[in-house]
Amino acid sequence: LWAQNLVKLLPGKDTITINKHIYGHFAEHLGRCIYDGIYVGEDNKTVPHTNGVRNDVIEALKKLNIPNLRWPGGCFADTYHWKDGIGPKGKRPSIVNTWWGGVTENNSFGTHDFLNMCELLGTEPYLAGNVGSGEVQELADWVQYVNFDGKSPMSDLRRENGRDKPWKVKFWGVGNEAWGCGGNMTPEYYADVYRKYATFMSDWTNSGGLFRIASGANSDNYEWTETLMKKIPKSLVKGLALHHYAVIDWQKKGSATMYTDEQYFKTMKSAWFMNELVEKHSAIMDKYDPKKEIALVVDEWGGWYEVEPGTNPGFLYQQNTMRDAMIAGMTLNIFNNHAERVRMANLAQTVNVLQAVILTEGDKMLVTPTYHVLEMYKVHQDARLVPIEVNSQKLSFNGESIPAVSASASIAEDGNTHISLVNIDPKNQQEITIDLSDRKYKNLNGRLLTSKKLRDFNSFENPGYIKPEIFKGAKMKNNQISVTLPPFSVAVLALN
Ligand code: AHR
Repeated sequence: LWAQNLVKLLPGKDTITINKHIYGHFAEHLGRCIYDGIYVGEDNKTVPHTNGVRNDVIEALKKLNIPNLRWPGGCFADTYHWKDGIGPKGKRPSIVNTWWGGVTENNSFGTHDFLNMCELLGTEPYLAGNVGSGEVQELADWVQYVNFDGKSPMSDLRRENGRDKPWKVKFWGVGNEAWGCGGNMTPEYYADVYRKYATFMSDWTNSGGLFRIASGANSDNYEWTETLMKKIPKSLVKGLALHHYAVIDWQKKGSATMYTDEQYFKTMKSAWFMNELVEKHSAIMDKYDPKKEIALVVDEWGGWYEVEPGTNPGFLYQQNTMRDAMIAGMTLNIFNNHAERVRMANLAQTVNVLQAVILTEGDKMLVTPTYHVLEMYKVHQDARLVPIEVNSQKLSFNGESIPAVSASASIAEDGNTHISLVNIDPKNQQEITIDLSDRKYKNLNGRLLTSKKLRDFNSFENPGYIKPEIFKGAKMKNNQISVTLPPFSVAVLALN
């Protein structure tokens, strides 16, 4: 049957699991992400909170089932000395956040605050260690402080600070962007530094070992991946990071809301580049690790624009339109389809920074279109990937083109199959035929995220303007589904 676009579910065994950690988040001490956005302080009388952490944010994040949360940076991580953030709050030193706005950081949100919050959220912490300006001993001590159950100098200190049992943190970043803000290192030099730090980050949990993640490549720096894979022994590393932002031009990033058609296309092209990146970095990893024991961890991704007019340029506060929903839907489809190697990822950043899922203003909070995509896609977490083939129409601009339709499919534990579909075409709906092959279903339901205009966003005046609705544009007949997907929309179908 002819259709504009064809999505074919391949018959087979569906042996790969989409690791839930692909749906991870990232909260840095940057602008209003932690302070104001997540943490308002224990003494706050205007915003309802639990131990200083906003209740509205906790509730919203819980609904996303966020599997892991990366903290405290980013670039900030390589300036952060964790011992500044423990003990009585009034006695903690103030430092300057040199990367982000030069503001004073009073360290009132520290290790206990973060790890207790993760418990509240039911999410796994992912701590980024300071390699750039910290010492080996300092990072080794942090591991002992948060993970050791017995008696030791660091576990005694933890108990003095009010926490008896260790938190058992599994995920550890060994520095961040070592090629840039983490120390401007060469890959050869960082590989050696990594080996040293990783050696002394002992496994105090005695429960399967730490998941140490090496600071990875900046976008298409394949030499970085090649060198690290060559020089770091497998026994020391479980994950290799990769950072890539959807950005038009680092010098002229353009407005988050008032973008031209050309800027929209360029953003989507940069987002789609993620597909090539994960394939090429994976191919290099395959050479050294054919059994795919080391995960590719895309621990920073998302759209990056100019800050909202009138806000601190160092705070990276940007609005979030349907363009961001397109980035999220497409990128998560890419990750799902490469789930064999991509086993963890972190959207940058959770609240009030870059492609945030939540924005706050005083005691007000809203969830963005990106939030809704993450919520709709949560059905893919830990589900079995259904391999697919996609034949898509092109979205073209000035002679360049990228696929208009992206998709991914999985089978959840409860037996439901979910297919997520994205049409990034800003003007045209797409007719899609889904070929179910030998898979049989009786029921079809769907949810859709779209809006009247591409540049629409949720504002504090109208916070619920963009939200998912029931999708009626899909019809199943025999082993085929015909879908009419509106322009700039994300749909998730549920089949059983
Ligand atoms: O997410 C903002 C910044 O982007 C992070 O701190 C850094 O790692 C990256 O350059």
